[in-house]
Amino acid sequence: TIPSLSETFYDYFPIGAAIEPHQISNETSELLIKHVNMLVAENVMKPDAIQPTEGNFNWEPTDRIIEFAKEHNMEVRFHTLVWHSQVGDWFFKDEDGYPMIDEENAEKREQNKQLLLERLKTHVTTIVERYKDDISSWDVVNEVVEPQDEDGMRASEWYQITGTEYIETAFYAAREAGGPDIKLYLNDYGTDHPKKRNIIYDLVSELLEKGVPIDGIGHQTHIDIHGPTIASIMESINKFNELGLDNIITELDMSIYAWDDHQDFGNEIPLEILNKQAERYEALFHEFVENQDKISEVVFWGMADDHTWLHSFPVERTNAPLLFDFNHQPKPAFWSVVNIV
Ligand code: XIL
Repeated sequence: TIPSLSETFYDYFPIGAAIEPHQISNETSELLIKHVNMLVAENVMKPDAIQPTEGNFNWEPTDRIIEFAKEHNMEVRFHTLVWHSQVGDWFFKDEDGYPMIDEENAEKREQNKQLLLERLKTHVTTIVERYKDDISSWDVVNEVVEPQDEDGMRASEWYQITGTEYIETAFYAAREAGGPDIKLYLNDYGTDHPKKRNIIYDLVSELLEKGVPIDGIGHQTHIDIHGPTIASIMESINKFNELGLDNIITELDMSIYAWDDHQDFGNEIPLEILNKQAERYEALFHEFVENQDKISEVVFWGMADDHTWLHSFPVERTNAPLLFDFNHQPKPAFWSVVNIV
């Protein structure tokens, strides 16, 4: 018999999966009900989906996820209040429809900045007020750091127009709308990378000193079968833990290819690759379990290999990054993970 993932790890941390609402009503729902006790939306909570045009909120898809979760005793996390991607253009245009980043007049630039921060505040406040009792953890900002950009901050429209003020505004607004008990996170990928880790560390330390309400770091953890090392992932978790922050694993998956690998196994993944993946998943979960006091949620970016963003990112190729295969059967990685505890 196949054990339940969430029951297996019940004493350690909740196990989650990212889903599209339609997966609630297809075969994936059986896997979800059996194996996870936390859900997050793969897309429908993102800014462009939840507020596609100013003042028009599309609640229905998120409501459906929350309703399904309640029916099945699952928690729900929110991804994401702020992002540079999947965000409506309208945020960054002035009242005349002119792109804010192109504005040259200093006075008008300042007005635009205030307008953008107002819009951001409304976005965050409206969403948090509606869902504050339903959400276990909030990704307040996503991917705000980019080591290759100036200052190490991602040169998004948010940053070009407001500097780091948008980050502070988002956290303050979320705390104000949700109260002291909601959990607020800064989420990013590649947090194991020493340079990026340090930039995030310095940014968050500075924000905390100012009193900005940040509870923890969300580590996306999109890794592959070659890297990064598990030691480097744990080094980041330890470093943020020492700063007094919580850590959550928010988007775990493990590509069977290297980033720039041009091969494509199709649906016939060599057993050797699946075994390598199993070994690495095992080592990773071993560390998660050992460090359970520093990690409060572990969420996969999908449930089974038939549905994963990695079939088309960074290139088109059949990928197999999760614990269940194309036919929803447990993979070697599933068995290696449940056998740890
Ligand atoms: C991805 C989704 O999985 C895709 O369906 C969508 O087309 C693009 O976004 N980091 C994130 C997630 O924070 O929001 C991304 O999700 C994957 C990378």
